Amino acid sequence: MYFLFINFKAYREATAENSIKLIKEIEENFPNEDRIIPVLNPLDAMVRTKLKKFIQHADPVLSGAKTGHIPVDLLPEYGIKGVLLNHSEKRINEVDLKKTIELCKENRIETIVCAESLDEIRKFLELRPDFIAYEPPELIGGNISVSKSKPEIIQEAARIIGEKSTFIVGAGIKTREDVEKSIELGAKGILVASGIVLSKNPIKAIQEMLVWKE
Ligand code: G3P
Repeated sequence: MYFLFINFKAYREATAENSIKLIKEIEENFPNEDRIIPVLNPLDAMVRTKLKKFIQHADPVLSGAKTGHIPVDLLPEYGIKGVLLNHSEKRINEVDLKKTIELCKENRIETIVCAESLDEIRKFLELRPDFIAYEPPELIGGNISVSKSKPEIIQEAARIIGEKSTFIVGAGIKTREDVEKSIELGAKGILVASGIVLSKNPIKAIQEMLVWKE
């Protein structure tokens, strides 16, 4: 099983009404598709979907007097199945990361932890997240993909992670070739934002990136 995570970030094209629109288009064009996982902005946590829904951040707290926080134990109430943690645009300290992952496990919320280097991958692997995403920050949002630019690191990361977690890669992924290369190098899925969300035709972009069979 391979995964296509679509990070909606805080792009206007994929938040508020546009997040509903994009989700609907994806559902209509890819019915019963469990390979596509939208990673929504927390403001859009209520968006209804048949897709497996993740959000972009959660805090290491439980519900209660927690103004402005995203408590982990509330996520299931919103139909959220997983959370993206430590994205390079939303870094968190290691203590909070560990606590958040523990709370997610207790509340049956899956976790993707982003890592910027092999050292971070080694370190975060000990926290046993469900997914580890390698994203070199300098390539995020650009046109040079992680698979073109860092093939050796992807290969080594796949070796280190093995069966301990599910390894995905992201940053600059725009084409079918980028995806095929990522898979060939050992990734079990991809994490994409601008290549889909900012594309003139997001559905076509998704079609292009779904290179693997069920
Ligand atoms: O989380 C995915 C993201 O950081 C990659 O962004 O725009 O390079 O696909 P992008």
